[in-house]
Amino acid sequence: MERTFGILTAGGDCPGLNAAIRGVCRAAYDRYQMNILGIASGYRGLIDGDVRQLKPEDFSGILTRGGTILGTSREKPFKNRPGAFDNEMVEGRVAAIKENYRKFKLDCLVVVGGNGTNTTGYLLAQEGLNVLGLPKTIDNDIVGTDRTFGFHSALAIATEAIDRLHSTAQSHNRVMVIELMGHKAGWLALSAGVAGGGDVILIPEIPYDIKAIGRHLIARSRSGKSFSIVVVAEGALSAEEAKMEKKERKKRRAEEGSPSIGYRVAREIEQETGVETRATVLGYVQRGGIPSASDRVLATSLGTAAAGLLARGEYGRMVSLNGNEIGSVSLELPAGKIKTVPEDHYLIDAAVSVGTCMGI
Ligand code: F6P
Repeated sequence: MERTFGILTAGGDCPGLNAAIRGVCRAAYDRYQMNILGIASGYRGLIDGDVRQLKPEDFSGILTRGGTILGTSREKPFKNRPGAFDNEMVEGRVAAIKENYRKFKLDCLVVVGGNGTNTTGYLLAQEGLNVLGLPKTIDNDIVGTDRTFGFHSALAIATEAIDRLHSTAQSHNRVMVIELMGHKAGWLALSAGVAGGGDVILIPEIPYDIKAIGRHLIARSRSGKSFSIVVVAEGALSAEEAKMEKKERKKRRAEEGSPSIGYRVAREIEQETGVETRATVLGYVQRGGIPSASDRVLATSLGTAAAGLLARGEYGRMVSLNGNEIGSVSLELPAGKIKTVPEDHYLIDAAVSVGTCMGI
């Protein structure tokens, strides 16, 4: 009997989502003759029953397209909303998902997303649904896979931005601060900082000391370098802030009035060094547009591997890249976790070895 699966994309979008959808759907349809239902707007569409049949023309010609043809949302069915009748709301959402899973006669639900999406996938598997996960995010912070698709494209965009800041920094003898995405993990800032030759790289995993940064930048200027590039992850924080509770930290930030960490670091650097400093926040440009060749390859490989798992009925797994191999791990492995940059990671050593200050 023909099997049916539903596919959704959830969380922040990233380049490569459509390539992954195409990979799963093409292989599942052409190779394994499966029936495919596209679910709109992440878990929101599954709760609302916003589902449509996908035919080959829907997943043709989308390999290079940015965004997601299915749409996405940050709906987290298992998360309580403050002020609401919490448990009832969670129960209601999960019940609606289970009902729609049955109503649409799904043999499996394929979820394409980051930490939150795969964690929800795991929780739904615990509720008895057949689920498969695919790891996407520009943050590259999913446990169980060496790389997520989206990361490589964002890295290329961020590196180009740093390259472009170099010439203007040099012309004006300025310090240029660039803020990149990454709330909890600094993979993107660290990698782009290394690729773009950042003089200072600040990541959430290494709370910074502005005095150390000031000393580094002044020493650089005394050695004849008239400009500097500082790469900051959006989740970077000072050593002082690292000791605070989240609530207190948030309050402090609000009182300071800086729109984001990049602006704050720029202000601190100017105070510390007396050098004119400007801030650039790259923002959503990092998530938009066509996927890099590398992300297309990864998304296609992970997508087609997921179709293989569907065909074999191996559920409860997330497809993954481990070393040079495409495989899969139990959905339990990434659930509720974030892969941060370890202190002894070779990229930190590489950065320090070429004279980059990591903020301490
Ligand atoms: O996709 C992950 C991410 O890019 C994070 O680095 C960032 O903090 C977050 O998404 C912001 O996205 P949104 O505004 O869509 O929630």
